[in-house]
Amino acid sequence: MNFSKHILVTGGAGFIGSHVVRRLVRNYPNYLIVNLDKLTYAGNLENLNDVAAAPNYRFERADICDAAALQRIFDAHQITDVIHLAAESHVDRSIEGPMEFVMTNVVGTVQLLQAARASWGNETNHVFHHVSTDEVYGSLGDTGLFEESTAYDPRSPYSASKASSDHFVRAYYHTYGLPIKMSNCSNNYGSHHFPEKLIPLMIHNIIENKPLPIYGKGDNIRDWLWVEDHASAIDAIFHNGRIGESYNVGGLNEWTNLELVHYLCRCMDDKLGRTAGTSAELITYVTDRAGHDKRYAIDACKLSTEIGWQPSVTFEEGLSKTIDWYLANQDWVSKVTSGAYQEYYEKMYIGR
Ligand code: NAD
Ligand code: TYD
Repeated sequence: MNFSKHILVTGGAGFIGSHVVRRLVRNYPNYLIVNLDKLTYAGNLENLNDVAAAPNYRFERADICDAAALQRIFDAHQITDVIHLAAESHVDRSIEGPMEFVMTNVVGTVQLLQAARASWGNETNHVFHHVSTDEVYGSLGDTGLFEESTAYDPRSPYSASKASSDHFVRAYYHTYGLPIKMSNCSNNYGSHHFPEKLIPLMIHNIIENKPLPIYGKGDNIRDWLWVEDHASAIDAIFHNGRIGESYNVGGLNEWTNLELVHYLCRCMDDKLGRTAGTSAELITYVTDRAGHDKRYAIDACKLSTEIGWQPSVTFEEGLSKTIDWYLANQDWVSKVTSGAYQEYYEKMYIGR
């Protein structure tokens, strides 16, 4: 079959990547979707069981730091476009060990840019879409929103590595004319989210009656977006965004961590048939994260006015779907949290 685009999606076995791959495979049967993933602790091919047999889907296990593997994959699949999500993504892990973040997020991104440049030369009918985070902008005070023009001010090893990758992507546009697009999104939540991040960890611990660790006073603020709305934004930007531009993605949905966990506890009490207030008793205050960013909040006006993107669900709807998914897929949680992760979990969340 002849495909009109051959899109390489990196990190497609991870949380957001699997939603992007599923969406593209289902909605664009005329595109070949090649999922490149190293399958670290955060990557799980079972996330894509429902599309694995589709005629327009391929999987390649590879490390984005491996230049020879990238060249082989670009050649073998005649890659025309890239959507780059592969990354080390957890702030706490970046504090414990920053080098892995430098390798994958910085060196890996540059290797991928090199592979695209070598394969595409000066042709401009391609897209290299780099998926990034609002954390590159640093930490907000009580007011204001991150705009695309906000100066970069990363504070954690994770955000520093993502900021560095963003700078390299822009440099390849300005220096070599590589046709890039970028998006910087706020915190995501949804199904298939590895239970080390706030929302899936809290859902898992409520089910298991384990402590709910709140860092510091719980007054840090995050701006939450349903993962499938992030996938729809990536789709919209990939197709309709302007070359060389970056777009902020977010749903104007700010919560303090403590308010959010209390809300989650109420929803879970309801869904589990527990007496109101039961789950909230599990809340435990623990030592704050080093350099903990106070507040993130996104202004996504450029994306909505230029491209017409809007989130499809309210937070209440998205969270309810997410809880239902975790309740129905506890075997997924057991699988991804067995083995090496268990030791890390005990150290980070129980012994803290
Ligand atoms: P994730 O940790 O769930 O998944 C990352 C995926 O990348 C995994 O499948 C992993 O196996 C793969 N990977 C890691 N290192 C690799 C390497 N060297 N080579 C090939 N594959 C490798 O991450 P996520 O939360 O899905 O985030 C995806 C992207 O979106 C990241 O670039 C992240 O910075 C960005 N982002 C995430 C959020 C969020 O809230 N999770 C918000 C905004 C932006
Ligand atoms: P996280 O999901 O790790 O995302 P990020 O740090 O990239 O925003 O954390 C979200 C917020 O929740 C952040 O302010 C840290 C806080 N947090 C806790 O209070 N307890 C936890 O167990 C975790 C994982 C996070």
